[in-house]
Amino acid sequence: MQLPLKFFFGSIFFFYLSSLPFVSLADDSASSTSFSYRVEPTPIPPQQGIPQRLSVYEAYRGGDCHGYRAKEISSTEQGVIGSLELIGSPCYAYGTDYKKLFLNVTYETEERIHVSIRDINSTQFQFSSRHDVWDAPLYHPSSVNQFNVHYNFSFNADPFEFWITRKSDGEVLFDTRGHPLIFEDQYIELTTNMVEDYNIYGLAETIHGLRLGNNLTRTFWANDEASPLDQNMYGTHPFYLEQRYNPVNDSSTQQQKHTSSSHGVLMLTANGMDVVLRPKYLQYRMIGGIIDLYVYSGSKKPQNTITQFIESVGFPQMQQYWTLGFHMCRWGYENIDEIIQVRENMRKFDIPIETFWSDIDYMHNMRDFTVDPISYPREQMIDFFHDIELAHQHFVPIVDAAVYAANPSNRSDDSYGPYYEGIEKDVFLKNPDGSLYIGEVWPGFTVFPDFTNPSVQDYWKHGIHNMSYALGSNSSDYIPFSGLWLDMNEPSSYCVGSCGSELVNMNPVHAPFKLPGEPNDLTLNYPEGFNLTNETEYASASSASLSQYYATATSSMQVVYPTAVSEGQQPKYDINHPPYAINTEQGNHDLANHGVSPNATHHDGTLRYNLFNVYGYGEIKVTHKALTDLQPEVRPFILSRSTFLGSGVYSAHWLGDNHSNWPNMFFSISGMMVFNMLGVPMVGADVCGFQDNSDEELCARWMAMGAFSPFYRNHNQQGSIRQEPYLWASVAESSRRAMNIRYSLLPYWYTLFRQASYDGSTLIRPLFFEFPDEPSLAGADRQFMVGDSLLITPVLEPNTTTVNGVFPGDEDTVWYDWYNHTAIEHKPYENKTMDAPLEHINVAVRGSKIIPMQQPAYTTEETRENPFNLLVALDKQGTAYGNVYADDGVSLTPNATLWVDFSAESNKLSSASFGTYNVHVPLANVTILGVSSSPKQIQFNNNSVNSFTYSDRTQELVVTNLDKFTSAGAFASNWTITW
Ligand code: GLC
Repeated sequence: MQLPLKFFFGSIFFFYLSSLPFVSLADDSASSTSFSYRVEPTPIPPQQGIPQRLSVYEAYRGGDCHGYRAKEISSTEQGVIGSLELIGSPCYAYGTDYKKLFLNVTYETEERIHVSIRDINSTQFQFSSRHDVWDAPLYHPSSVNQFNVHYNFSFNADPFEFWITRKSDGEVLFDTRGHPLIFEDQYIELTTNMVEDYNIYGLAETIHGLRLGNNLTRTFWANDEASPLDQNMYGTHPFYLEQRYNPVNDSSTQQQKHTSSSHGVLMLTANGMDVVLRPKYLQYRMIGGIIDLYVYSGSKKPQNTITQFIESVGFPQMQQYWTLGFHMCRWGYENIDEIIQVRENMRKFDIPIETFWSDIDYMHNMRDFTVDPISYPREQMIDFFHDIELAHQHFVPIVDAAVYAANPSNRSDDSYGPYYEGIEKDVFLKNPDGSLYIGEVWPGFTVFPDFTNPSVQDYWKHGIHNMSYALGSNSSDYIPFSGLWLDMNEPSSYCVGSCGSELVNMNPVHAPFKLPGEPNDLTLNYPEGFNLTNETEYASASSASLSQYYATATSSMQVVYPTAVSEGQQPKYDINHPPYAINTEQGNHDLANHGVSPNATHHDGTLRYNLFNVYGYGEIKVTHKALTDLQPEVRPFILSRSTFLGSGVYSAHWLGDNHSNWPNMFFSISGMMVFNMLGVPMVGADVCGFQDNSDEELCARWMAMGAFSPFYRNHNQQGSIRQEPYLWASVAESSRRAMNIRYSLLPYWYTLFRQASYDGSTLIRPLFFEFPDEPSLAGADRQFMVGDSLLITPVLEPNTTTVNGVFPGDEDTVWYDWYNHTAIEHKPYENKTMDAPLEHINVAVRGSKIIPMQQPAYTTEETRENPFNLLVALDKQGTAYGNVYADDGVSLTPNATLWVDFSAESNKLSSASFGTYNVHVPLANVTILGVSSSPKQIQFNNNSVNSFTYSDRTQELVVTNLDKFTSAGAFASNWTITW
């Protein structure tokens, strides 16, 4: 493609903006609306895709398949290899059967076995050979042999069937007996028998209760859709955890109890796939690739299985400390003044805010790496960055995956560097015939960086660097934002297939649907229980919608779309419409609908068909490297919508476009739990809901629950009523209270993150993780634990002031109420009703735990400057344990770190510090719960302490003024406190 004359690049600061015509329009902007200089997009009609008959609902076509026969099998201490030969003639279930397969079973670690089955000539795409695209620790197995592994691999030769058992208890973990293997070019089927009423978790990303149940089809196909129940969404993580319970009789109590065990299964593929869950079996139905199955033998504790899994895909990166603060976002902050106003209001209402987010509003015409010079002017942005930096606050802008395709017949597009530089470097996805793959996203027709192309790294970094300048950077190494938000990176696209290269002459075009907030888009719902006669809220919703309208879409032009591309590459059947139609959610189930289609082609000719689910992950990795190149010392903060196995190594995730309603708040609990199991612990939902209108009650409850999510961000859609927490009195109050707890727990949260990055520990935990032997907890997802110490029982429905929940454990387990510090009266597993006024969230502290805390302040940085406190929650034996981790909170590789272990027993609390990081603030107070009588005297090391209070009623001992003993730093030396 010919480059326009104006195209120029190579300088350090690539002034995308300098030659854009809107700069001169700024002169008369005062007299016009803020959007008048923006380009009016041409409307285009929507496309539907070709209707597919979903294979999972059709008569089963594998009935004539007889599987394979094992030949020439040889077993070694490290595994089993051999070949498999097709039994009988090809059965053509949904493709052409391979006659001969290669079997390679490897004992990879003590707990992990890998079963690989591929066609003998390796013509099928092998995702596991593309380490350039996805690399993970599981490619580097440790040295084990059949004698020291915790599992057995067994097989029958004719037909070939295999099963994997756990040595210690004989549990069968994966078992294909009775189910012939089908291995065709565009269809692979592998089935495992399942135990009755099985409990499995994971197979993300979808909206579902925590336990997946046994009548569900989970489809793996990265998809941009707002909260479709049980269907495919943004990310794909083909891993499940299984939890099993076996009854045992407790002869002492005559009660039936259970022991439990857990294990995990991963099918490593980026191809499309249905996983069919049925009462007796679980069946993988893949439309390409090979079989790379990993079974993790697990252990009694589900967390151990999760550790084995996360260790294999990569432990999550440590987050920067500030990311734990509260984030405020909205699509529809039309200019920086609105954000500045939010900042002032938050301060006025004394609600902490750490980070301001900018959606596509800050861009010029929604184009990546540009900044709107009128609504987000550089000079004003420089002042804004200065102010927030002084106040220890942060800013995170959005970047979309799709890059606007400059219109060659429109000279004003000539200066859109991100497009022309990408053309020059040849980094965009192509059609199979070599032409550019054109999609359509917010700015109009777009192209898509090929994140597997080695040249994309420089290109992407350059874009980020230029954007940094346009936003307000004054020097080449100053990046004024604190992280990047990667959106639409499934990637989303509104055409079915390529829109057609020649159509870019129409650019910019308007999305083929009404954008939220445009006229006649007033079908916004309120949460259940909201009274629609509430005139005030309804009126404000309507006017908000109208005021945000800016793109007029009047006529509906008829555009004839050319057939997307010439097809006919391998695989030999249809690529966009394979013989087996997976159950993808988009209209007509057409794989090319609402996403970049399977026939889009990577730089080396690899079809997206084979790398479909890994696009977002590629963008994350490239962005991560770009950020570490730009700021080598700093842990990058990336929030990504699409994720794949191992994304947590680089990125956080939000649960995408939810709705402002109660079910979405409820489902976000499972969403957070599952992503924690997948090694993406920095996760949270759009608090108060993204689509539709929130209301006071939902937002008050959600702001409170959100304070117990690792990633705590309120975000909503343009056109919906605003939902900043100060807008309703009860929401402000509920936010202040919950944030007060959150900020006081920052050392606890940070320590949990450290543990997660060290061994994959979950932050948001299902109750059964901590209490694995109790079958009634297998599906418990209305309550959750933060770490092992805090139990959260949120209100998840409207018009109520009570909430039910259980307090797990046995008769000896003590739970303390967070607020009044008394032991909660309860019987084990009794469904207890608790008071839950609107501004209150129930939080219980588990006896036996010690929680590190700091005096909360307005920002995380200010909180870090406040003294430490410890909350010691004794169990019935008077013991408790805990720890805290500290470092500078920013560095990729901190110079110094500190671990402190705390233990309390026999009326003595001790600290033991390891490491050299100096927490310079003192320890102020220690609160000990469950102290049965008033102490005679208290000592800090050998010093008597007179400042303490004891309450008989609450059995609470509060020791204060410890700062005088710890002025060198709370944990500068080990200490003991006795009472
Ligand atoms: C997508 C994102 C959403 C964002 C919007 C506009 O829908 O999921 O968070 O606000 O795009 O950029």
